Amino acid sequence: MQTVWLLLVLTVSAGAAMSAVLEGADSSCTCKDGEPGEAGPRGEIGLRGARGPPGFPGINGRPGYDGNPGAVGPKGEPGSSSVPLSQKPGPPGPKGNIGAEGSTGAQGPAGPKGAKGEQGIAGIRHQVAFTAILAETCFSGDEAMTIIFNTTILNIGGGFNESSGEFTAPVSGIYIISLNGLSHSTTSTWLKLIKNGTTTIVNGYGAHRHAAVSMSVNVRLKQGDTLEIQLQPGKAIYSESDDIYTTFTGFLLYETD
Ligand SMILES: *[C@@H]1O[C@H](CO)[C@@H](O)[C@H](O)[C@H]1NC(C)=O
Ligand SMILES: *[C@@H]1O[C@H](CO)[C@@H](O)[C@H](O)[C@H]1NC(C)=O
Ligand SMILES: *[C@@H]1O[C@H](CO)[C@@H](O)[C@H](O)[C@H]1NC(C)=O
Repeated sequence: MQTVWLLLVLTVSAGAAMSAVLEGADSSCTCKDGEPGEAGPRGEIGLRGARGPPGFPGINGRPGYDGNPGAVGPKGEPGSSSVPLSQKPGPPGPKGNIGAEGSTGAQGPAGPKGAKGEQGIAGIRHQVAFTAILAETCFSGDEAMTIIFNTTILNIGGGFNESSGEFTAPVSGIYIISLNGLSHSTTSTWLKLIKNGTTTIVNGYGAHRHAAVSMSVNVRLKQGDTLEIQLQPGKAIYSESDDIYTTFTGFLLYETD
């Protein structure tokens, strides 16, 4: 029995030697093994083992970030022209002739209807037109004087007075007034178109020796305004009773308020 306990103790402390002892005792002892004893205290930390073989290489790491830009390099040599002089484009050629005119295009579609226009001026309600002629051969004087055109060949509207030589506007409006005359052979002529006896609207002048004199104006007249031709002092105007050379004419272009 002591042998068995010894074996058991040996089993716990040195497992490798125990199996050989048990095989030797197997033929002479039939006792059963006892219960395993309590685990012994932890042994001392063993000596450091031999260095193992190198491990397998690790997998590649991720690429690193871009580095900072390098310093500016030295200036390079000037390059040579890539296009030879003979192959460079020449100056622009002369302008070509204008091409033939194209044919007229098809008529476009009608545009949208325009906005209503402003009210137009009233049409002619009154008709005024006169042509007065000078019948004297030489009309002259030392003072300024109204030329008496004592004959009218047209006096529509009755505005022209053959006794006074004045035209009185029958209605307010824009009138076209003109004078055509001939100076005397002995002296020059100087005429004024006078409104209401005082206001000079326009002058006309002709040298002596039968020079032409003329004046023409578009003038605004109020009803009752008068127009006359005034010969200046020392001047003369020529005409003939049979062959008319000097006329005073006018007509109403349109009425105004
Ligand atoms: C106009 O005057 C001329 C010259 O004074 C005169 O001969 C002529 O008879 C006059 N005509 C009218 C219509 O008075
Ligand atoms: C024409 O003029 C004369 C002379 O100024 C004047 O006596 C006469 O009344 C005038 N005639 C008209 C119709 O105004
Ligand atoms: C011109 O004379 C007429 C008639 O006397 C008068 O009604 C009118 O106001 C005068 N016009 C001017 C601009 O003096």
